[in-house]
Amino acid sequence: MNTDHVAIVTGAGSGISRAAAIRLAQDGAPVALLDIAADAVAKTRAHIEEMGGTAIDIAVDITDHAAVTQAVTEVQHALGTPRVLLNGAGIIVRKDLLHTTPDDWDRVLRVNLTGSYNLLSVVVPLMAAAGGGSIIQIASTAAHLGGHGYPSYTASKGAILALTRQLAGELAKDHIRINSISPGAVRTGINRDSFADERVHTAMTSAIPLGRIGEPDDLAGVVAFLAGPDSRYVTGIDIPVDGGLISKINLGSDKAYNTFDQTGGR
Ligand SMILES: NC(=O)c1ccc[n+]([C@@H]2O[C@H](COP(=O)([O-])OP(=O)(O)OC[C@H]3O[C@@H](n4cnc5c(N)ncnc54)[C@H](O)[C@@H]3O)[C@@H](O)[C@H]2O)c1
Repeated sequence: MNTDHVAIVTGAGSGISRAAAIRLAQDGAPVALLDIAADAVAKTRAHIEEMGGTAIDIAVDITDHAAVTQAVTEVQHALGTPRVLLNGAGIIVRKDLLHTTPDDWDRVLRVNLTGSYNLLSVVVPLMAAAGGGSIIQIASTAAHLGGHGYPSYTASKGAILALTRQLAGELAKDHIRINSISPGAVRTGINRDSFADERVHTAMTSAIPLGRIGEPDDLAGVVAFLAGPDSRYVTGIDIPVDGGLISKINLGSDKAYNTFDQTGGR
């Protein structure tokens, strides 16, 4: 896709999607900013317009298929056919299995998984008719590693990984690529409170090889890469953007790694 193609970004009122939307606009894309938080997403639009970019904001609950259909129609009228979709809106409920209520479970799956489906089902036919596009889903390192005390969230993100792989094959004939990004620990609305706890912060930074919590801007360039022409031969993959978290777990542990002689001896 070209960087001046219309992009829809869900969750653009905050965090990772906000930073990604700003980056896509900086690269020349007209961006449609969707979020349930009307004030927040209006602020993102104002910020992009101040930068000289083109954006519209639409307050929409992505769990509502009819509302998503209407929002995408609005995007088409205002900006044209979307050729990039970032499915970034998401929520987390921090409760272990036995504290997770049926309502919690349903809410997390409806936003994180059904919300993504709702956008896909409306946007894919438009992209296909326009000659193709690029879709970026936001999964999580939790989908690879498991998390701590949020099984509904981890299950929803595992499903996003599987859905992305499934659709890569299905959508290729329409020249639509679909990939996901797995953020590690990124300082945003869904975890700012947790990271404010000194113990959590210390535990996280010591677990991350690059030694710091991520910032939303750390993800934006990867979104731009997957949206744009440099990734034209890339589909069906997941890119962890996690400061090395997954690679470290793959090594076993620091302790195991450090028992190897690093001096060239055997
Ligand atoms: N921050 C992290 O450490 C981290 C790690 C892994 C994955 N992620 C994922 O990244 C994505 C972005 O999250 P973030 O960390 O930037 O959090 P965030 O809370 O800053 O942003 C999420 C946005 O989604 C919007 N949203 C929530 N429910 C919605 C709905 N029903 N309809 C429309 N919009 C809705 C919120 O209003 C908010 O603006 C999410 O999918 C999240 O699961 C985040």
